Amino acid sequence: MARRKFIAGNWKENGLYAEARQLIEELIPLVKDATTADIAVCPPYLVIPAVAEWIKGTNIQLGAQNAFSTEAKGALVQKGAYTGEVSPAMLKDAGCTWAILGHSERRQYFGETDEKVNVKVRACYEAGIKPIVCVGETLEERDSGRTAGVVEKQVRGCLASLPADKMAETVIAYEPVWAIGTGRTATPEQAQEVHAQIRGLLKELFGAEIAEAVRIQYGGSMKPENAAELLAQPDIDGGLIGGAALKAKDFTAIIEAAK
Ligand code: PGA
Repeated sequence: MARRKFIAGNWKENGLYAEARQLIEELIPLVKDATTADIAVCPPYLVIPAVAEWIKGTNIQLGAQNAFSTEAKGALVQKGAYTGEVSPAMLKDAGCTWAILGHSERRQYFGETDEKVNVKVRACYEAGIKPIVCVGETLEERDSGRTAGVVEKQVRGCLASLPADKMAETVIAYEPVWAIGTGRTATPEQAQEVHAQIRGLLKELFGAEIAEAVRIQYGGSMKPENAAELLAQPDIDGGLIGGAALKAKDFTAIIEAAK
């Protein structure tokens, strides 16, 4: 079964109401005939309800950049006394399909660990939200030859005890930390090597059929100039796009490169 490409825009902490509106208004007509890929935008929480309205009836799906849950009294928390947090159930209620989890910026600045991501993954499934689980090594880890081990540990940790039928709908984003927002992209060969390794691990954990079905995105300075080459790799099934997702033309060019 051929995997359908999936291009998602991670807006990060960008998107005042007026900016979000302009970007979505520009994007809708540009991508309306795109048939080569599934498309999603992941704006900041506050504009999610507005974006949900604006994209109604279009081919653009909606995601969040995080979701909070924890385990309390043997259950996954979807509401309660957790000041400042937003649960997967709330994202579902607001019209989201996806949630990005375990992004390296959350790991770096907000203490996200594989264990925390794992709880969030399971809570997303409980609420009907599909996770995009981010993994990737730092430059120091790559330079010291630890990429494979680091990524394996993250994949195992984030996906622990996930039932196989849930796994098939989970998306993994391989995002080498040294390539995020730096303009320095992994070469198609470097990315493909890690993607193939992740698929091999999924096979071991969930079986061959699931491993073949899971989409693995690449993220890290993907842009119109390098997208086609990256997306042509056999195990690269899409992109998680930061900077280039903030310009409708660039984001569209990446979607069009997903042939
Ligand atoms: P970038 O970000 O495309 O700006 O490198 C990607 C990401 O962090 O998801």
